Amino acid sequence: MVLFCLLTNVNMYAKLSSRIVRFDLFTLYLRQPELLFFASMDLEKTKEQLINVEKEIASCQLCPLYKTRRNIVPAEGNPHAEIMFIGEAPGAREDECGRPFCGPAGKFLDQLLDSIGLQRADVYIANTLKCRPPANRDPLPEEKSACRKYLEEQIAIINPKIVVTLGRHSTETYLPDLGGITKLRAKLYHRANGIFPRTSLPTADDAGLYFFPLYHPAAALHNGAMRQTLLDDFAKLPAAIAKVKAEIEKTKKDKIKQEKL
Ligand code: URA
Repeated sequence: MVLFCLLTNVNMYAKLSSRIVRFDLFTLYLRQPELLFFASMDLEKTKEQLINVEKEIASCQLCPLYKTRRNIVPAEGNPHAEIMFIGEAPGAREDECGRPFCGPAGKFLDQLLDSIGLQRADVYIANTLKCRPPANRDPLPEEKSACRKYLEEQIAIINPKIVVTLGRHSTETYLPDLGGITKLRAKLYHRANGIFPRTSLPTADDAGLYFFPLYHPAAALHNGAMRQTLLDDFAKLPAAIAKVKAEIEKTKKDKIKQEKL
């Protein structure tokens, strides 16, 4: 029975995860096979938590957008992703398919991911709003505020190492005090614990959260210069992740040292 659970969960990992994660699991299997069982259990728990958020979104009436949407667009991707992308709001295509970035901006996002050797299945993709604003108008402050708790539940569950905010709306949600997207883009920003005032959920990591704002792929689609800037900025993402990982490790070590004193 245990072996059966283990094998079915490993297959699920293979479907959901990147080559890198699969390789890590294989290494884990060779070195400490018993840990693989716990890893698969953890994945199941994470998926269940994400489904619970989806159920909350499906019955949400906190703003009027539930009346005009065709489908909710909760989020999608690897439940154990290190990178989480946050876009603006579903457009017409997303409203139809119920998935984030399934239209032309999504095709460009796929190209951007590919340019740094990643696929959609490696990352987690969400939006500030889970329902489409009519006629693709900008999200209203009260809609963003009503929807924020779902996004923060998702961030806390995914526990990403780095949050990539795509465009003005998601960037100003988390970095409202630092300036516009043009100034902030392609640089790392650290927010310590306590950035989630609306939920009692824990923050994504003891070390706090790291943000890396970028232009929105839709804005760059028809603007050659911005498109190249976004490609260039995306190329800086792997180095930013490496830096974040080193900082998280240092924070953890410092904490252990402090506790020993
Ligand atoms: N633009 C967004 O911000 N999100 C989507 O899901 C699609 C387009």
